[in-house]
Amino acid sequence: KKISILGVPMDLGQSRRGVDMGPSAIRYAGIVERLQRLGYTVQDLGNIAISEEKNNTSSEQNLNNLHAIVKTNEALASKVDEIVKNNEFPLVFGGDHSISIGTLAGISQNYQNLGVIWYDAHGDLNVPETSPSGNIHGMPLASSMGFGHELLTNIAGFAPKVKPENVVMIGVRDLDQGEKVLIKKLGLKVYSMHEIDRLGMARVIEETIEYLKDKDGVHLSLDLDALDPTECPGVGTPVIGGVTYRESHLAMEMLAESNLITSAEFVEVNPILDEKNKTADVAATLMGSLFGEKILEPSGKKVII
Ligand code: ARG
Ligand code: MN
Ligand code: MN
Ligand code: MN
Repeated sequence: KKISILGVPMDLGQSRRGVDMGPSAIRYAGIVERLQRLGYTVQDLGNIAISEEKNNTSSEQNLNNLHAIVKTNEALASKVDEIVKNNEFPLVFGGDHSISIGTLAGISQNYQNLGVIWYDAHGDLNVPETSPSGNIHGMPLASSMGFGHELLTNIAGFAPKVKPENVVMIGVRDLDQGEKVLIKKLGLKVYSMHEIDRLGMARVIEETIEYLKDKDGVHLSLDLDALDPTECPGVGTPVIGGVTYRESHLAMEMLAESNLITSAEFVEVNPILDEKNKTADVAATLMGSLFGEKILEPSGKKVII
């Protein structure tokens, strides 16, 4: 299957500049060549243009840069939809996590029962009323399930994109009060750091695969801040006590073996905050594993960072 790469140099969903350079940093880490070495046909479609539309009025409280984010996500959604309809694998590079609203809007048009793995330190389950920051990168999972401002929930003209019972969250360790309430209310499947520590990543992924095995597609939304900041310092909202590099590799390798993943996005890489492109290198290495790189296979050269 052909892999189609799309960059979304978006930094309007949060408050620290630099994450708009994420797509370049991941490309610089050699991802295209890496996937080609594994035998894939890869096409890099370049970057989506980021809207500069200004916010206007009062019904948009606590939604920083709402209009620009909505416009960009509309464009992203139609591009991703096109990729899926061409029978290609969409691989999206952020940019901040607000782009997930557009990615999921594009993908979910093509599936009746899409599963989503949300690999993140955060829930991204805020709505304007609960958000402590007004930053839309803290809202994409809620928006995709139909909660929040209707301009965000209705991207591509329909809602919701994802059913709560089709979501698995992995790596969570920083939730706002309203997010905890929503998790309880919806009965979301959550593997927080507590469960990862107790069960081990192997079991967490085995259970995740079992939970999602009957879906007609599974999207992986991987926020690099799920990993520990010592290994991925180049993120805007780091949280201590994260998933390790090794655990994340195991997760990607097991997902590769399961053959369940039908689309993926890697977000929140901020080269300005990074050390020698380390976080983008980790992202590229994780993608290698997700697409089947193996330590003992000659084509699968594994780079230890
Ligand atoms: N919960 C915080 C907020 O809503 C942080 C969200 C961080 N999200 C992310 N995609 N890194 O502002
Ligand atoms: Mn408006
Ligand atoms: Mn996060
Ligand atoms: Mn996130």
